[in-house]
Amino acid sequence: MNMIIMGPPGSGKGTQASRIAEVYGVPAVSTGDMLREAISNGTQRGLEAKAFMDKGELVPDQVVIDIVKERLAEADAQQGFLLDGFPRSAVQAESLGETLAGAGKKIDLVINVAVPDDEIIRRLSRRRVCPKCNAVYHLDHQPPKVAGMCDKCGADVVQRNDDNETTIAHRLEVYRQNSEPLIEYYRNMGLLVEVPGTKTIDEVFGEIRAHIEGKL
Ligand code: AP5
Ligand code: MG
Ligand code: ZN
Repeated sequence: MNMIIMGPPGSGKGTQASRIAEVYGVPAVSTGDMLREAISNGTQRGLEAKAFMDKGELVPDQVVIDIVKERLAEADAQQGFLLDGFPRSAVQAESLGETLAGAGKKIDLVINVAVPDDEIIRRLSRRRVCPKCNAVYHLDHQPPKVAGMCDKCGADVVQRNDDNETTIAHRLEVYRQNSEPLIEYYRNMGLLVEVPGTKTIDEVFGEIRAHIEGKL
């Protein structure tokens, strides 16, 4: 099954994506994680993306479109995938549709996770992430077992550069302007399911599971 998980910054896309990937055996393809990897590897793409990401702006469409095309061509994505953080603009959504159609594929399910702004700010200001394996933590809701250390790989967890109050506010504006309209786009295609993201991580996952099972 080919899926997309959408929602504002901090809605829990990455948290839910890693659970979905584990249970359904599909790769979670996160453009944010891939861009941060490019930055830490010091690649040309990473250098190009960093300034946009630090400001909370979208990285130019063509850069992310190319990254996703390459990733979806890999062997492990042929039996299904889950996109997290892509598409985020009308141009990206159109391009994805065309690329998949060219390969005789399509999107089967789009999961939209909704969370109000005040909760987003609470979540992102206390988030920690693992720069090595991309595991996501929260100092109150989902703390690492040993303070400061990733449960999965032992690396030191860090705060993302864009998780400060000013940049979070800008990311929300950018989301409203560019990405939120995709809810309607996928609803019109009959692919959208809506999941409230304010319950516990387990409860949100339970609802997502029910929607996926309904499509299998
Ligand atoms: P990206 O990395 O995708 O960031 P984002 O969309 O802002 O989303 P986040 O990763 O911040 O949040 P999330 O929804 O994954 O939440 P999480 O699970 O971590 O993109 C970063 C940047 O890259 C963009 O600004 C842009 O510059 C660039 N970029 C990426 N894709 C692009 C594209 N397609 N086009 C152009 N540019 C692109 O959870 C958040 C916190 O809440 C965590 O601490 C977690 O533990 C906690 N939490 C999760 N669920 C719950 C719950 N149910 N209850 C309580 N706490 C919870
Ligand atoms: Mg994320
Ligand atoms: Zn880790």
